[in-house]
Amino acid sequence: MTFKKAEWPRRLRSQEWYGGTSRDNIYHRGWLKNQGYPHDLFDGRPVIGILNTWSDLTPCNGHLRELAEKVKAGVWEAGGFPLEVPVFSASENTFRPTAMMYRNLAAMAVEEVMRAQPIDGAVLLVGCDKTTPSLLMGAASTDLPSIVVTGGPMLNGWFRGERVGSGTALWQMSEDIKAGKMSQEDFLEAEQAMSRSSGTCNTMGTASTMASMAEALGMALSGNAAIPAVDARRRVMAQMTGRRIVQMVKDDLKPSDIMTKQAFENAIRCNGAIGGSTNAVIHLLAMAGRCGVDLTLDDWDRLGRDVPTVVNLMPSGKYLMEEFFYAGGLPVVLKRLGEAGMLHKDALTVSGGTVWDEVKDAVNWNEDVILPVDKALTASGGIAVLKGNLAPKGAVLKPSAASPHLMKHRGRAVVFEDIDDYKAKIADEALDIDETCIMVLKNCGPKGYPGMSEVGNMGLPPKVLKKGITDMVRISDARMSGTAYGTVILHTSPEAAVGGPLAVVQSGDMIELDVEARRIHLDIPEAELAARLAAWSPAADAPKGGYDWLFRTHVEGADTGADLDFLKGCRGREVPRDSH
Ligand code: FES
Repeated sequence: MTFKKAEWPRRLRSQEWYGGTSRDNIYHRGWLKNQGYPHDLFDGRPVIGILNTWSDLTPCNGHLRELAEKVKAGVWEAGGFPLEVPVFSASENTFRPTAMMYRNLAAMAVEEVMRAQPIDGAVLLVGCDKTTPSLLMGAASTDLPSIVVTGGPMLNGWFRGERVGSGTALWQMSEDIKAGKMSQEDFLEAEQAMSRSSGTCNTMGTASTMASMAEALGMALSGNAAIPAVDARRRVMAQMTGRRIVQMVKDDLKPSDIMTKQAFENAIRCNGAIGGSTNAVIHLLAMAGRCGVDLTLDDWDRLGRDVPTVVNLMPSGKYLMEEFFYAGGLPVVLKRLGEAGMLHKDALTVSGGTVWDEVKDAVNWNEDVILPVDKALTASGGIAVLKGNLAPKGAVLKPSAASPHLMKHRGRAVVFEDIDDYKAKIADEALDIDETCIMVLKNCGPKGYPGMSEVGNMGLPPKVLKKGITDMVRISDARMSGTAYGTVILHTSPEAAVGGPLAVVQSGDMIELDVEARRIHLDIPEAELAARLAAWSPAADAPKGGYDWLFRTHVEGADTGADLDFLKGCRGREVPRDSH
């Protein structure tokens, strides 16, 4: 930890707009006064932008306006001037073709909103999957003091005495219907039981994972990730966050001080311990790219190998976020990592102190939720990064959500050229497939879908499900929902749409998977593979213009975070000219 506080008082950037008597100062200040703000609020105190991803169409963030009021209260209490600013809200459950296509657009918009306006520091009010990384990416590219507060997870879902976890239950029940084990009427009844309160998905899906990543990176106050959305302590957290950002601005405690290589390494270890989503791989790579931190897929494999998954939450385990909070939440996990020598204890956090200061006194109140190491869900909980002639730049698999008996497997490929081809064929009784086969899905990567949809955990064929089989090896260049599970190989890079080897796999080819050896191999002669690749040509599917063009022209591969190439890096906080 090498952070040196800035001197206070000093002139802040917001004073370029508000602090003077020029025509432009009066223009900026006078217009804002139409909201009834007294003149002394423009005296040089920190102006805090509360960047709010609230939207009626992002139900997971539907309560964030209430939380914003608490953040404002905290900012006022600490002597700041809070201004709430709506920002792009990439809703996971409504955006088409996929919210992931808009993560980078949201990040670009947030960056410009922060830089172009009189904001000295920002509270990032986020929750649903893409909202957390997009705002962190934008904040990192301006390097203005920023702090995350998430909306928190929904309360547990319950259906007929059983926990139903967001997403996880949906995947399970839809397979049960295909297998004839559940009626459509029961499925509809369960729908209402899944989402009982405001908040994000209550499993260790992508939203809970990214809330945990923000905390493990040091970008949120300790304990933030697990507090349920409707718990009064979530509102306290929001208020405390509002207080804290004012001091961060005075100290000039910036994302670049906090999001260091050490912080990313802490987050990767943490992801293994919580059994976090594979989406965290892409988001952390993209965030590191904004921070100028050299983070690679190999770091994910290296750091995750010996981390046991101890958080017993769906989809890998049994419980939900509500129980994780009652058990002590993320501080317990980070403490455990620290005791095992797997945490950079002196990494700086938004608190101004070290991560170890924050977690060293955490107590585990339920050892069935946060398990002892000898009862871990899996000893190697990190993300496995597979390489070979089928994925020269890598592919990922989440061991804690996979079936142990399939971790070493050789099978016949059954190929689907794209998601429509899969949907057209999967229920066909004549499809030549059984449980030993490997399902291969192409053209679902960043450029191919476009946006890299969460379809990698493609459902099994009904005729296999009816035998009682619940898992098969699946390979694609897609992503998978953090709430999903199975022996699913994702993010295969280079993707099929740019001519990666995945593009030339044919039904009937043999594929070998060896997770322990980190190997994924298409078992055809080298010359045959080279000939197929030489004969490959891209689909004649031109972008429609607009953002579709921008995205498909500039998006990078999943192996480096699928950011837009021109958005990588930090462009700082300076804006040279006034608006007139
Ligand atoms: Fe928004 Fe899961 S769909 S948090």
